[in-house]
Amino acid sequence: MATHPWWTAAVVYQIYPRSFADSDGDGIGDVPGVLTKLDYLADLGVDVIWLSPIFTSPQDDNGYDISDYRAVDPVFGKLADLDRLIEQAHDRGMRIILDLVVNHTSDEHPWFIESRSSTDNPKRDWYWWRPARDGYAAGSPGAEPTNWASAFSGPAWDLDETTGEYYLHLFSRKQPDLNWENPAVRQAVYSMMRWWLDRGADGFRMDVINLISKDPSLPDGPPIGGGPLGVAWEAVVCGPRIHEFLQEMHAEVFAGRPAPLLNVGEMPLATIQDAVLFTDPARRELDMVFQFDHVTMGPTKWDARPAKIADLKASLGRWQEGLAKIGWNSLYLSNHDQPRPVSHFGDDGRYRVESSTALATVLHLHRGTPYVYQGDELGMTNAPFTSIDDYRDIETLNHYAYDVGVRGQQPDRVLADLRKVSRDNARTPMQWDSSPHAGFSTATPWIPVNPNHVEINAETAMADTGSVWHHYRRLIELRHTERAVALGDFTMLLPDHPHIYAFTRQLDDVTLTVVANLSSSTVELDLAVGGELLLVTGGVGTDSTHLKPWEARIYRRAVG
Ligand code: GLC
Repeated sequence: MATHPWWTAAVVYQIYPRSFADSDGDGIGDVPGVLTKLDYLADLGVDVIWLSPIFTSPQDDNGYDISDYRAVDPVFGKLADLDRLIEQAHDRGMRIILDLVVNHTSDEHPWFIESRSSTDNPKRDWYWWRPARDGYAAGSPGAEPTNWASAFSGPAWDLDETTGEYYLHLFSRKQPDLNWENPAVRQAVYSMMRWWLDRGADGFRMDVINLISKDPSLPDGPPIGGGPLGVAWEAVVCGPRIHEFLQEMHAEVFAGRPAPLLNVGEMPLATIQDAVLFTDPARRELDMVFQFDHVTMGPTKWDARPAKIADLKASLGRWQEGLAKIGWNSLYLSNHDQPRPVSHFGDDGRYRVESSTALATVLHLHRGTPYVYQGDELGMTNAPFTSIDDYRDIETLNHYAYDVGVRGQQPDRVLADLRKVSRDNARTPMQWDSSPHAGFSTATPWIPVNPNHVEINAETAMADTGSVWHHYRRLIELRHTERAVALGDFTMLLPDHPHIYAFTRQLDDVTLTVVANLSSSTVELDLAVGGELLLVTGGVGTDSTHLKPWEARIYRRAVG
């Protein structure tokens, strides 16, 4: 029998440390806080922890702007705390992957400080420096070297007064892009990665890793909405040397390591064809990628229309098919950049528990490695903020300033969109209990807690066997015990049905059938299902011809 990588039967849990657990009473979560929750995670059954960045950082983008890759930011603790976390996770049979943010550094990283100091500094070429556009005086409107927009509003170039040149930042102006064309940059990154693996890390979640190879001619992009700015993506997504760089990284960092690792690349706008290449084991690049198709289905990020289940099904179905033979999917509905799935895809009012569990059932039964974002196992919902003062996220604040300040939109309209799509929806403190700060901290948290923590919290959920939490626990266990969940072939059923999400997973003589009603009305089930009922959401009393609102079932049939 062929052997399969361990992560085919593993579930990853993402921790956003700032919002997970605060141990020192400053209102910000930290690494020692995570240590106090390891038993909680072991109890849930997860195999891997992905820790969002805890490295030294000015925190312009909550740690995705790193100024020292080999140190823990004092706000999160000490290096020794992280060593302990790795050790104690390992003691419980869990692995830890770190966030690798190397498309850019902080502008306060010593590399950038050197780089900006003069045009002939040895590190000048570690970043993307360019003079003003031909015929324009530096600093004048339109003088940026390309028309690219930054992902966080405004141009992707900033003028540096010291040398009179511009530097590229695809994200905030405090996140200058590293120049991966320079071999010294690549070696510095690989050396840092080896250092973390030697310290016990079990791999990396690689931040926007498909942006590291840019088209060096830096062409202008198609204009956005008739304005002066253009789209950067065509020149930077999966650029000309991306596969070469990842293969080099694999050879320099991962090859020959005895310990089993997990490396997952975050890849906005990557296609199925790209993902096949990135995750084909024979090519030695990555184990899996986070693709964005199913979380970017509106025309723009800010176009806050409710997600259509038919679109979700079509999108995930395409990826299942595309990576069926070669490569591997990562399965997620949320993370620290997305709204809460129960609010976005489900019904976070009357059917909060039912829709959280139905969505989780569907996701976890796909072929691929599931990722649970902190709080989703409690059915946490979007934040009900009514004032811009409650928001903290740079992307959100920049967008609000632009839409209200520059485009003259009504603040209430923009706030209504933020309640649907802002990244801060996922970043409110973890709801541990019903006490004033949700058991997250003894102090006022850095971002307001969701008032619904009084009902929705871990303590209550763990005491109730019908809770979202217990359902997640059963799904995770099923991935460990049922080989067809990890490895079975995927076949979509009823592809055109607007509400029912149904499919089979088949391995040897075992067939699992998943049927889920992803709507708030009862629907007729026009599908012959049968076998042993392994799991059902919404309690007992199934009806063979109908599915209750947000009811999901898993059947198992073995022949022979
Ligand atoms: C990734 C991160 C996001 C961050 C951005 C820039 O998309 O997940 O949080 O803002 O990269 O590092």
